[in-house]
Amino acid sequence: MKIIAGNFKSNLNRKSTIGFLKSLDSTLDNISNKEIYIFPATSSLVENNFKHIILGAQNAHYAESGAFTGEITLHHLEEFNIKTILIAHSERRNLFGESDEICATKFDFFKERDFRIFYCIGESLEVRESGKMLEFLDSQISKIDLDYQNLVLAYEPLWAIGTGRVAKAEQISEIYRFLKSRTNAPIIYGGSVNEKNASEILGICDGVLVGSASLKVESFYEIIKG
Ligand code: 13P
Repeated sequence: MKIIAGNFKSNLNRKSTIGFLKSLDSTLDNISNKEIYIFPATSSLVENNFKHIILGAQNAHYAESGAFTGEITLHHLEEFNIKTILIAHSERRNLFGESDEICATKFDFFKERDFRIFYCIGESLEVRESGKMLEFLDSQISKIDLDYQNLVLAYEPLWAIGTGRVAKAEQISEIYRFLKSRTNAPIIYGGSVNEKNASEILGICDGVLVGSASLKVESFYEIIKG
């Protein structure tokens, strides 16, 4: 079973997200052996009751509810029956200052509540060229429970995100083997995945996490179809 996930980031509003979800869901009746996830923007979350698509949150604070201005919490996800969350995306880490400690606290909170957790890791070009890449990736996963049954590990090298510069097959294979030596969780790849390169990548790892090429039903469907 391959995992195909779309991260809308801060794109598509509520109306266009609902249109997308209905349209994609209706095209997936003949697709098997694929687990399909969409992570819409927070204000576009809707009831998680599609036939073929599982909805997840891009982010949430690690609390039931409370005084956390600007954040949503478990309470808000429960309203939509959402049980999947993306944690530690590089944009959360680098633009919003989420440290390994904060990401691990989120992980523990949502793990205790049996969420499917997509936990992101990935090195910068500088780290890759320093020769300390594996050490760095190891440190990014050192604070989370790698035996958690509902974990998906998403390897997204920073230099491949939104750049059109997808990692080479042998680079993905190397990281895949390394992470598989640490965990039995599915390992998926993200970073400039599109309808042209997806099938090769899906032959190397357990799935893909797609940003910009997930924003149009046609291109995302091509990736799913394989
Ligand atoms: P792109 O597919 O736009 O490079 O984004 C990847 C990503 O960050 C998915 O989480």
